[in-house]
Amino acid sequence: MSILTILFILLVISRAAEAQRRLSNITLGSSLTPHSTWPSSSGVYAFGFFPQHVNSYAIGIFLPDKTVVWTANRDSVPTVPDDVVSLRLSTEGRLILRRRQGQDEDSFDHPTNTLLPGQRLPPGKEIFSSASDTDYGRGIFRLKMQTDGFLVQYPINTLDIHPYAYYAQPPNGAVNVSLNLDSDGRLYQLNGSFPLRNITNGGFPTQGYVNLMRLDVGGIFRVYSLSLGNLTMTRRWSSTDDECAPKGFCGINSFCILMDSVPVCQCIPGFVSVQADNHTAGCSRSFSVQGCPEINDRLKYDMRRVDNTEWEDNSYETMFTSEEECSKACLDDCNCETAFYKDGQCKKQRLPLRFGRRSLDSSNMAFVRFSTTVVPDTGGDSDSKIVTKKERRIDILIIGIVIMSIGVLALLVSVFFAHQKRKDYSKISKDDGANYVEGISLQVFTFEHLSEATNNFKEELGRGASGTVFKGVLQNGQKMVAVKRLEKEFAQGEIEFQTELKTIGKMYHRNLVRLLGYCFDGDNKLLVFEYMSNGSLADILFNQEERPSWEERVEIARDISRGILYLHQECETQIIHCIKPQNILMDENWRAKISDFGLAKLLKQDQTNTYTGIRGTKGYVAPEWYQKQAITVKADVYSFGVMLLEIICCRKCVDWNRSEDEAILEEWVYDCYATGKIGNLVGDEMVEERKVERMVKIGIWCVQYDPSLRPTMKKVLLMLEGTVEIPMPPSPNSFLSSI
Ligand SMILES: *[C@@H]1O[C@H](CO)[C@@H](O)[C@H](O)[C@H]1NC(C)=O
Ligand SMILES: *[C@@H]1O[C@H](CO)[C@@H](O)[C@H](O)[C@H]1NC(C)=O
Ligand SMILES: *[C@@H]1O[C@H](CO)[C@@H](O)[C@H](O)[C@H]1NC(C)=O
Ligand SMILES: *[C@@H]1O[C@H](CO)[C@@H](O)[C@H](O)[C@H]1NC(C)=O
Ligand SMILES: *[C@@H]1O[C@H](CO)[C@@H](O)[C@H](O)[C@H]1NC(C)=O
Ligand SMILES: *[C@@H]1O[C@H](CO)[C@@H](O)[C@H](O)[C@H]1NC(C)=O
Repeated sequence: MSILTILFILLVISRAAEAQRRLSNITLGSSLTPHSTWPSSSGVYAFGFFPQHVNSYAIGIFLPDKTVVWTANRDSVPTVPDDVVSLRLSTEGRLILRRRQGQDEDSFDHPTNTLLPGQRLPPGKEIFSSASDTDYGRGIFRLKMQTDGFLVQYPINTLDIHPYAYYAQPPNGAVNVSLNLDSDGRLYQLNGSFPLRNITNGGFPTQGYVNLMRLDVGGIFRVYSLSLGNLTMTRRWSSTDDECAPKGFCGINSFCILMDSVPVCQCIPGFVSVQADNHTAGCSRSFSVQGCPEINDRLKYDMRRVDNTEWEDNSYETMFTSEEECSKACLDDCNCETAFYKDGQCKKQRLPLRFGRRSLDSSNMAFVRFSTTVVPDTGGDSDSKIVTKKERRIDILIIGIVIMSIGVLALLVSVFFAHQKRKDYSKISKDDGANYVEGISLQVFTFEHLSEATNNFKEELGRGASGTVFKGVLQNGQKMVAVKRLEKEFAQGEIEFQTELKTIGKMYHRNLVRLLGYCFDGDNKLLVFEYMSNGSLADILFNQEERPSWEERVEIARDISRGILYLHQECETQIIHCIKPQNILMDENWRAKISDFGLAKLLKQDQTNTYTGIRGTKGYVAPEWYQKQAITVKADVYSFGVMLLEIICCRKCVDWNRSEDEAILEEWVYDCYATGKIGNLVGDEMVEERKVERMVKIGIWCVQYDPSLRPTMKKVLLMLEGTVEIPMPPSPNSFLSSI
């Protein structure tokens, strides 16, 4: 609190030395400290200090539950009038400054963000939202009782003109109109004393309640009833239910989406949040754009489409053309950063984009210039600036991987043409780290050879929908392998089979189980993989005796996410990877590796039939599979999310042995998270709750119903590594509102 405000109070107190004390006449002799208040004679209101920011106070009027309804000197350092003799709090909670000459000054005609019963917003005056629920300073929205009689809402720092308005109540032909609130919560407009219109009909209980109107932090004005008995606030009426309506709710270059009626801000493609946990700060570009690029450099950009969004129109050129032409016209115009397209009209615009929100009109779309040299990142959450640095490092890594893969591909092609049937693995290095050259070509085996290596398919390691896995030994007993014998009904031609296999064989990463070779011999189709001595993640996770420690589980989750990230960056075509604990295998160093990736496509398996759920249980399969929607890499993020929750809790995603509330893991986890009972999730295990909460938040983000809200795998990994803040996730089942 400013020193001047304290001085002001001291001044009032010192001037009031010799007088008597009465309840609602705060006159001479009264003093005020941060621990005392001046109550109104009704006992409902109090005047005094309330905490503002850290270690400081502001002065104002508040209700018994500490709801601040008026703040002194909200925006500026207070100036102390020389002739102030008393500060009086009237029975209605009005604060009156009495001056020496005797005239009263009613602070009540200068409401801040709240109207109390009997209080009015005079013509030409406006109220402002608070900055946040704890900071009563001026926020970013205003409600103005215009002199032309319109009651209008705007963001701050705009002209009072129609394009910026997000709420407007016309005047009924009258001017000099004020906004008034009755004790029963009726909000109405008067010109002079002539009633014009009821905005709310009121009729809310008054006995034991205070009804008030407040312009909330999010920019919507509402009528509330505060129960004086238990001090709970009940929302009675809202100017709108659409929390994305207030213009500027989301900062620049981001747009607002309603998830289960909760507004969520999302950056446009190629942009990241400037400030984690502060959606009004907006998003900035994660790549740089230099001036007007040369023709050749223009290849570095393309346009990304953002469907169903609307923005402030600041266009510098309007064209009438097709959707494709619109996108191209912007790409070719180096002044153009974004283009809005609707019904044949194309509007070119520069940045920043403001007032973005999901449009109610699906024919609206926007195109955004995007650098093709960075990996797309459209995750639904926010990052800090630290991420950008980190991302750049990852980008370099990605470029490295891409260059390497091209080299490897060239090699693969030459090896393919010069292909010789080799009998054994003698040339495959044991070291699975750096030796791309020898390890990359897939070995072709004869059936006899594999039959011999597996001792006539004696030792079974596992059995799945696609086939049975056997243990085998190659190199005269030197190298253990896993041989998967595919089911007979699997009937793909050899060429197709080999093409697919080569794609899989090309994928090489420490967190992927390597495909070493194959056998295609009439009905016998076999795949040879590296041997993983410690079984599957499911074996260790759901086994109460052997379950890994918390730190080990976190490392497993990171390993898996690294594997998936690699797959996402490598795969041109989107393939699903059957990610579930049964397909995560542990090597002799307890490093987690993904097996069977890409096999779904190879085997033309019908994924949707594999785990048909009960009561909306989705298992590991993302909901879009059931909706016949486009499947993207975000489907893998979903599967990973479910598995992450399993890894956190060491239990299966569906477990009917548990109580109804706990049976569906996803629901249980969110309940525990929302009600602050995170500890329940890890049972007796001693883990810092903060750590568990972090992981839980990541898991909940991954299992969001709307794929666009799920983070990318890259972001997931950054979150798992602990380098970025994790925003509060919405409920994963917010699909009810989006259908
Ligand atoms: C407050 O003080 C004024 C003048 O000092 C007096 O007229 C008035 O009756 C007092 N009000 C109450 C409620 O005591
Ligand atoms: C209020 O507006 C009405 C028209 O709606 C007009 O007849 C009346 O004179 C106005 N009263 C005042 C006090 O301005
Ligand atoms: C508006 O109404 C107030 C009374 O509420 C009155 O004092 C003022 O003169 C009026 N102004 C105009 C322009 O009519
Ligand atoms: C507004 O509400 C009050 C109280 O319910 C009622 O008396 C009045 O007629 C209403 N006015 C209009 C214009 O509907
Ligand atoms: C608070 O009290 C009111 C009655 O005064 C009651 O209607 C309301 O349900 C109570 N709320 C809570 C949370 O106890
Ligand atoms: C959020 O960002 C806005 C815009 O940059 C800034 O004015 C505001 O102070 C920030 N709020 C917090 C809580 O940091």
